[in-house]
Amino acid sequence: MPSPRKLFVTTALPYANGKVHIGHIMEYIQADIWVRHQRMQGSAVHFVCADDAHGAAIMIAAEAAGKTPQQFVAEISAGRKEYLDGFHIGFDNWHSTDAPENHELARQIYRDLKASGLVSSKVVEQFFDPAKAMFLPDRFIKGECPNCHAKDQYGDNCEVCGKVYSPTDLINPYSALSGTTPVLRSSEHFFFKLSDPRCMAFLSDWTRTEGRLQTEVLNKISEWLEPDESGKAAMGDWDISRDAPYFGIEIPDAPGKYFYVWLDAPVGYLASLKNYFDRGGAQAAGESMSYEKFVADPDVEQYHFIGKDIITFHTLFWPAMLHFSGRKVPNKIFVHGFLTVNNGEKMSKSRGTGLDPLKYLSLGMNPEWLRYYLAAKLNGRNEDIDFNADDFMARVNSDLIGKYVNIASRAVKFVPGGKVVKIPTAHLEPATLVDSVKALYEGREYGKALREIMAFADAVNLRFDSAAPWKLVKEGKAGDAAVVCSECLEMFKVLTACLKPVLPELAQQAEAFLKCAPLDWANAVVALGEGHQVGEYRHLMQRVDAKQLDALFEPPAEAEPEKTVPGGEELAPTIGIDDFAKIDLRIAMIVNCEPVEGSTKLLRLTLDVGEGKTRNVFSGIASAYQPAELVGKLTVMVANLAPRKMKFGVSEGMVLAASHADEKASPGIYVLSPWPGAQPGLRVR
Ligand code: 2FM
Ligand code: ZN
Repeated sequence: MPSPRKLFVTTALPYANGKVHIGHIMEYIQADIWVRHQRMQGSAVHFVCADDAHGAAIMIAAEAAGKTPQQFVAEISAGRKEYLDGFHIGFDNWHSTDAPENHELARQIYRDLKASGLVSSKVVEQFFDPAKAMFLPDRFIKGECPNCHAKDQYGDNCEVCGKVYSPTDLINPYSALSGTTPVLRSSEHFFFKLSDPRCMAFLSDWTRTEGRLQTEVLNKISEWLEPDESGKAAMGDWDISRDAPYFGIEIPDAPGKYFYVWLDAPVGYLASLKNYFDRGGAQAAGESMSYEKFVADPDVEQYHFIGKDIITFHTLFWPAMLHFSGRKVPNKIFVHGFLTVNNGEKMSKSRGTGLDPLKYLSLGMNPEWLRYYLAAKLNGRNEDIDFNADDFMARVNSDLIGKYVNIASRAVKFVPGGKVVKIPTAHLEPATLVDSVKALYEGREYGKALREIMAFADAVNLRFDSAAPWKLVKEGKAGDAAVVCSECLEMFKVLTACLKPVLPELAQQAEAFLKCAPLDWANAVVALGEGHQVGEYRHLMQRVDAKQLDALFEPPAEAEPEKTVPGGEELAPTIGIDDFAKIDLRIAMIVNCEPVEGSTKLLRLTLDVGEGKTRNVFSGIASAYQPAELVGKLTVMVANLAPRKMKFGVSEGMVLAASHADEKASPGIYVLSPWPGAQPGLRVR
């Protein structure tokens, strides 16, 4: 017996700022089927994933939600289980790239790359958002792709042509955070020297190793591997650092500098694996090696399932990081295409819509219908696939239920007492089917595998129909009927084994009905045998109801038309423009701000409205702001309000702030502030 294979399998780590969408589910199902197939042939598989926690996008989203990034990410992470359990996706471990293992591993890999002489630093000019006072992350700068001129592309790579570039290459850039045109500022950055001849030589070789990458994937990346006309590497060095503020991993010996999220994200594969080993999960699954031994073992095979949008990171940057830090490289990268729903828009990670996985489950739809349908569409290439509601119903109802499930329910009726009888002459030969299906699963040709399985199910049904056991019984040949139907039950068992990677729960129920040992590739064709007693048949699977699909794709109910008044407060009577013009609103700079002794409500503001002198204004905003927060900020004031004598002094105007009539009511008081660029004294009109 060949010794079992040892596999380390991952799917891409989802960003921890959004829910799981159907595109993720498709990838997880694809990988999960492959893992289950591997286990059926006795391979030891460790299958892990994690949240991709870092990066400016998550930092910004957390801030907007009023949470720390850690809290924010933890809440997203807590929601993952519902999806994974719901669709029978059996990761062995789910971790986070913000976990200590990842901080340590990423920093160590960086140190190792540095020791290999592959880290350089240089001062770069980078886009800075003056309104937000931060360097703009690539994803928050948008503009026109310098390569294909597609509009509204992100600053790091083009979603249309796939070109990787730096944000300063964008044509007409703008800040997606504030809308302003960013300005260039200098800062020191660290680079992974991918253009080093050693890297180019390694990648040329690694990517072209037979079987490593799908042909279409290799074609896509080969432009990066060829020297350009001048003989220079086409691939530039990779900027791996970001300046604070950033949610990420601090770079050793470089205070205020963080790893770019894509540097530590794939390290998260290893971190999740390490965590799994360190908490005893791998050992419980029969693993005898330590994490360190396992990842260094040349016999361990490493596979990453990913989508076609992140090819360069996984086929160039990641293998080079591993290799030049003295680590083992992946064996293969399995790239799939995008999923569209009802010929709809691309299911991209940022705007995944269309088929809501939790809605699917909440409607009582069987998760294995979806597994079956997606598997029927998937192949080993990175082609896009479409979820089509009518096709879904047809395939599940007529193939899965009409062909496979029905064999059991029809056949068992003619096997007296459920006791399998001797089959003197077999009519059906399942060994070739099993061999072929195994090979197809191995090559991720799930669609072809299911077609072969269903063709075999057709043959079984044909045998049943042409033997017509119900007639045989009438003719007093119940024994013959039992023979035919015993063979059908044997074939049902084989079919169950063949479908098991795709339909783990259904297979388990079928095993319980058949009263057989858990099916795998070794016992798939071993007959139940004469005298084997099967259990009582209970219906194995419901049919898809068209109403469920209607409900699934029904757009969410329109929000009730606004009956209430805006913000809960009646609009004031209509005025003409002349009335409005009487109010002179000006931009004011808050040059000073102090608490007012004896008042819990008021702050004393010193305002510059460009008059060559300042004004004293009292404002009832002490409950909402600390004086120091306001100093140096611009706001809007009513500049022609008659001065009012108050208990604490004269107020020479009024600062504008938003609130409910009851200022204490949630959400409180908000002082207005103009967009950047406004100057004290400008009139607001
Ligand atoms: O594209 C994405 O959704 C990334 N979060 C994938 C990261 S995969 C790995 F490198 F972590
Ligand atoms: Zn482009």
